[in-house]
Amino acid sequence: MDKLRIRGGRPLIGDIQISGAKNAALPLLAACLLSDETLTLTNLPHLADISTMANLLAQHGVDIRLNGDEGAGSQGRTIELNAGSITSLEAPYDLVRKMRASVLVLGPLVARFGQAKVSLPGGCAIGPRPVDLHIKGLQAMGAQIEIEGGYVLAKAPAGGLTGAEFVFPQVSVGATENLMMAACLAKGQTTLVNAAREPEIGDLAKCLIAMGAVIEGAGTDRIRITGVDRLHAATHEVVGDRIEAGTYAMAAAITGGDLHLLGGKLDHIRAVATALVPAEVVFQETEQGFRVRRANGALHGVDVMTEPFPGFPTDLQAQMMSLMCVAQGASMITETIFENRFMHVPELMRMGANITVHGSSALVRGVPKLTGAPVMATDLRASVSLVLAGLAAEGETVVNRIYHLDRGYERIEQKLSACGADMERLRETS
Ligand code: UD1
Repeated sequence: MDKLRIRGGRPLIGDIQISGAKNAALPLLAACLLSDETLTLTNLPHLADISTMANLLAQHGVDIRLNGDEGAGSQGRTIELNAGSITSLEAPYDLVRKMRASVLVLGPLVARFGQAKVSLPGGCAIGPRPVDLHIKGLQAMGAQIEIEGGYVLAKAPAGGLTGAEFVFPQVSVGATENLMMAACLAKGQTTLVNAAREPEIGDLAKCLIAMGAVIEGAGTDRIRITGVDRLHAATHEVVGDRIEAGTYAMAAAITGGDLHLLGGKLDHIRAVATALVPAEVVFQETEQGFRVRRANGALHGVDVMTEPFPGFPTDLQAQMMSLMCVAQGASMITETIFENRFMHVPELMRMGANITVHGSSALVRGVPKLTGAPVMATDLRASVSLVLAGLAAEGETVVNRIYHLDRGYERIEQKLSACGADMERLRETS
């Protein structure tokens, strides 16, 4: 398994092109199942999770054409998906267990074909992550659902799904996306109340509208979808990755560098920029994106709590913790979205961090410096938080099991090395 070797202590200075968002691309790929005409997505990031979703779609019978290589840079890759001849309505366990977002095929398949059999994703490193809201929402639209042998068996009534009002008891990004897609082909109007407001939802709605869907209110907590008989061909550019941009913003701050994040949208990580103002980190909007650097040298501890958008994203919590490890003073970091999302804590402590966890909060007392160490993490954002810590640490850090990074960060070592990081991928053959 590949490792990443980092020699820390170098400020990162330069420009980084932000890739298309993984979390936007995954539901957009699933959206191809809603039409028998071709969906073309541009600015697609080259990531392991995208390949997993493409493999799942190919297994359903989607005809896929991929253009552009992984070095395509700012343009990313272009994918053409045609779901004109679907051969299987089953998403098997072997593919779904690799990636929870596979469950996003459920809504489109039931809406267009009247039935689907999708494996339950099972547990993952950051908690149990159930799919009950996806199921309850489809039931509200008339689907009959049974759980059998680890699979969700969903069937629409003879006339297809019907629009309904569904009130989310808790905000869910994936369930909002699944139900929004299903509602596009349901009869009549669907209203999703307490819907997720993440920019990726807005991006999906934009693509669906280009395909002929009728959607109002995406980006607010109340989305209204009026079903249509069919969707048609469209071309859509995947929105920039706000989590990648936020991660590199923290890389600038933790190394005392100055990064210009091209294609980054400050509006999409406003809560992060706001939280970091009292930490003495400066965000400056530019024509091409935004710039990040420290204000006066030292960082200061600040408190943050993760929340659904527009709050502080859980996907930047681990990176924020690395940053706070080297700030002056203390910081309280509270995780409200996922249980079990502090796996980076023991590894950061092996690098010299001072962190105490009480339930869903971590008290981070800043230390003057971190020291390099061999470390490992079991999820994507935890892994990248160790990369950030390694960039700031004295000496050498080896991040093991970096296949997690490859799931969500496109060419991370090339992007950061180009800005002065001393890091290299150690390839292992076995
Ligand atoms: C998406 C993101 C992930 C991010 C998360 C929260 C993608 C591909 N992934 O994941 O990176 O960390 O949003 O911003 O976009 N829940 C239920 N029942 C459900 C669904 C969710 O209880 O049916 C709970 C989850 O366990 C979790 C919370 O709701 O505690 C939020 O989960 P959700 O927003 O659904 O996350 P994902 O869509 O899986």
